[in-house]
Amino acid sequence: MSRTIRVNAGGGYDVVIAPGLLREAGTRIRAACRGEKLCLVTDDRVAALYADTVEASARGAGFQTERFVFPQGETSKTPETWLRLSRFLAEKELGGTDEVVALGGGVTGDLAGFAAASYRRGIGFVQMPTTLLAAVDSSVGGKTAVDLPEGKNLLGAFYQPRLVLCDTDSFRTLERNTRRDGCAEIIKYAMLRGEPLLERLRDPANADGEDVIARCVEIKSEIVERDERDRGERKLLNFGHTVGHAVELMSGFSVTHGCAVAIGMAAVTRACAKRGLCSAETAETLLDLLRLYGLPTGTEFTAGELAKAMRSDKKRAGDTIDLILPKRIGHCEIVPTPIAELESFVEDGLG
Ligand SMILES: NC(=O)c1ccc[n+]([C@@H]2O[C@H](COP(=O)([O-])OP(=O)(O)OC[C@H]3O[C@@H](n4cnc5c(N)ncnc54)[C@H](O)[C@@H]3O)[C@@H](O)[C@H]2O)c1
Ligand SMILES: [Zn+2]
Repeated sequence: MSRTIRVNAGGGYDVVIAPGLLREAGTRIRAACRGEKLCLVTDDRVAALYADTVEASARGAGFQTERFVFPQGETSKTPETWLRLSRFLAEKELGGTDEVVALGGGVTGDLAGFAAASYRRGIGFVQMPTTLLAAVDSSVGGKTAVDLPEGKNLLGAFYQPRLVLCDTDSFRTLERNTRRDGCAEIIKYAMLRGEPLLERLRDPANADGEDVIARCVEIKSEIVERDERDRGERKLLNFGHTVGHAVELMSGFSVTHGCAVAIGMAAVTRACAKRGLCSAETAETLLDLLRLYGLPTGTEFTAGELAKAMRSDKKRAGDTIDLILPKRIGHCEIVPTPIAELESFVEDGLG
């Protein structure tokens, strides 16, 4: 079944979620864009799996195609790759009406999106997410960036795509751990909005289906439409992420993002239950769900270590850090928390 969600941000765009979309990419992009050339941006792993299909489809719809391939992984999300890609676009003479097409996970989308945002002060950009995380999170909302040695995502822009095509068949080739990472973000949406998503997630086979992905995209787009620039409500999407980033940092990024977010959500929710800010049942529901998906709910790092890492987090404003706290399943709140209280809060969450 095909699902389409309209996002009213930037120029407004459709997110189409369906099986078989890689083969239809050309005609779908043709209907949304008027350019002549497409530059497919993809990592070496995804290139081997899907680039030929997308290119053949694009040529069938009358596009000239170019292909930029980079080595898979976060270590490629750098200013160096961005510069190589930008020069590739210039060398291949992509013009103002041509399109950059990101085919891959969040690394590809963030990198290609930032190149599209900055090349010629912005050219057309299409997202084709092939990881669950990219489908439910990074391909929607217009955050693009590359990493600096000083920190993740420090060099970037808000730049909305013109179209998002999510082929659910592509998830079949995901490694188990990559799929599991995406499930952590999906569970985050269930904590933010509750039913009917929560019920669907009780069967893990539903997690990469059109219904669940569409619901997550709807939730993200509603929030982004109200707060495109991350000044208020959009911070809710950071549920589990402040502690999660600390876990990622402390582990030297050997704990993956999804696992770190799972640990963060578990810690924050346990602390809230302990302090009477949410019920014990709310915490148990989350913890059960994380376990069902094989996600971790605890860490070896101490509250002191994590609080220290959190203090260096870029989302810090003055003497407080915004924590996203669950009040109940389906309702979280942004709570500015004094730096001095972080360690004891995290301590309660790890216990
Ligand atoms: N822009 C945003 O709003 C936003 C939100 C969340 C995360 N992010 C960013 O997203 C990135 C993480 O995204 P990710 O987890 O998708 O990482 P990723 O893009 O590195 O993909 C993970 C791995 O899966 C492989 N892969 C991708 N699709 C595949 C498929 N269909 N079959 C087999 N293998 C496949 C990739 O080659 C890679 O090795 C981070 O850089 C993070 O900062 C951005
Ligand atoms: Zn995340």
